[in-house]
Amino acid sequence: MCGIVGAVGLANCGDTLLDALRRLEYRGYDSAGIVTHNGAGFEITRSIGKLASLDSLIRKNPLSGDVGIGHTRWATHGGVSEANAHPHIAAERVVIVHNGIIENHRQLRARLEQEGHLFSSDTDSEVLAHLFVEAFDAGLSLTEATKSVLAAIEGAYAFAALVLDHRDMLIVARNASPLAIGLGDDASFIGSDAIALAHLTRRVIYLKDNDFAFVTAEGAAVFDAKGTPVNREEVIVAASQGLVDKGGYRHFMEKEIHEQPDAIAHSLAAMTGADGRISAPMSRDQLHDITGIVMLAAGTSHYASLVARYWIEGLARVPVTCEIASEYRYRKPVTSSFSTAIAISQSGESLDTLMAMRHAGENDLQTIGLVNVPGSTIAREADAVMPTRAGPEIGVASTKAFTAQLTVLISFAVALAEVKGAITPQRADEIQAQIQAMPGLVGKALTSFDAIRPIAHDLASARSALFLGRDVLFPLALEGALKLKELSYIHAEGFASGEMKHGPIALIEDALPVVAMLAADEVLGKAASNLREASARGGRIILLTEEKAVAEVDFAESVITVPNVDPLLAPILLAVPAQILAYLTAVEKGTDVDQPRNLAKSVTVE
Ligand code: G6P
Repeated sequence: MCGIVGAVGLANCGDTLLDALRRLEYRGYDSAGIVTHNGAGFEITRSIGKLASLDSLIRKNPLSGDVGIGHTRWATHGGVSEANAHPHIAAERVVIVHNGIIENHRQLRARLEQEGHLFSSDTDSEVLAHLFVEAFDAGLSLTEATKSVLAAIEGAYAFAALVLDHRDMLIVARNASPLAIGLGDDASFIGSDAIALAHLTRRVIYLKDNDFAFVTAEGAAVFDAKGTPVNREEVIVAASQGLVDKGGYRHFMEKEIHEQPDAIAHSLAAMTGADGRISAPMSRDQLHDITGIVMLAAGTSHYASLVARYWIEGLARVPVTCEIASEYRYRKPVTSSFSTAIAISQSGESLDTLMAMRHAGENDLQTIGLVNVPGSTIAREADAVMPTRAGPEIGVASTKAFTAQLTVLISFAVALAEVKGAITPQRADEIQAQIQAMPGLVGKALTSFDAIRPIAHDLASARSALFLGRDVLFPLALEGALKLKELSYIHAEGFASGEMKHGPIALIEDALPVVAMLAADEVLGKAASNLREASARGGRIILLTEEKAVAEVDFAESVITVPNVDPLLAPILLAVPAQILAYLTAVEKGTDVDQPRNLAKSVTVE
């Protein structure tokens, strides 16, 4: 999603803003821009495409001034063009950057145009700059002008404004979209998240919904929607400068795939009690009170929830439903049969998931946020937090956050099952031991890069591929297909193996790649015969499986094995070759692995 940065009180801040924007590249963008105030007027540079284009423009024409704002834009309203790139200036007096959507922008624009305001973009965002000009023309003070702008707009937003006559400050505000204020020694900063500011400061203030603030070099004056001064706590964020580089890997995604043993081990640590046993970060009573769970998530996080449903229902006998976050609240769900909502989100900022969680909370469900970013909105708003500790995930396609989510969810399922008395102590011990072994087993699964390379080479020329799995591996088939399509742009679909015969088998034609996930579980025989049917019709079977299940599918064209594991935990282990296959296929095709086209890391619009 769009990224916002800003600085005030920092000499020649243009380069610093560019650096901060680089840290937000992972959110996805298609154009970018920076504006500074040089004491006499605004200096603005905007460019479509990658930040390298903006960088070379700035090299030719350096930006001067000690206050400025920058933006990476991911097009929503209006195509990808320099005119639509932020910042947007109105009447040479107010310049803004904005993340989110101003839902009533059409009416506002029509009114402003009637009043004589000249617009220069197709964006919804530009109305913000004109609304400020309108308010200042009406003689309103800074505070009153900001309040009137906020009262006029509807939707989710975070924005920053720089005013020609007030070069010592930035005006910022947010509702639903994230915004962090960073406090330095002699300067202050703003960013869509703390990662953007990690090289500048660790002292951060997060605005609450409907807050606005005046940010000066000395700090921030924060106000609530009514304009009453409020005190928002300053926190020290954990993000540090070294966390966001490729560490010698070709892509962030490759690095993050390799970080999975660590990500899993750290996440497990957060789920391990003083006695060394895996538990959930909540009391026995709290666990006991969980009688039904609705899982809310988007994208890869949704597939993690689908895996967890097998675990929680199978082990703890607690009913679970998994909802695509963007569908949840609008279909007016019946919530009375659930006690608890678990919102799963790597970023903790996906607006669909946040809104779904709020809806669940408003309907009296206890909310638990399973998030990777500790200070994120979902983490702050949930009644309780179960963290993943995967570290910053920069590649748009989620990898280490997914296996960390699965690790936390299986740990939660076992803890719940134990409290509910739904599992024998012996079975609990077995699963606990397997979970504890996961970092090492995932480390072994990482050794399959070279074996997967030739398979990826062939797959890169396919137009379409199927992913099949049964039982707890069915959601992993969905995730495997998502990874391939989002990274390599090859059409891919995931199906439950047993469902093939009810329709999808019609898709099988000669040499169609069929990626099959298999474990030595109770449905092994059935899953293998589903694959045999696909193979008999010309499907080229690429088998991802544990060593002890290989013999069952002697007709597979290629086989990638992972170490033997309790079948329950197979999705964590088999996720690794599925990720590597998608990664290497994308590398083979030469696509933009870390920032696939049209995608954003964190989607903060509905
Ligand atoms: C975006 C990303 C996906 C991600 C999804 C949910 O669509 O491109 O990779 O799975 O958001 O993100 P979250 O941060 O809520 O897990």
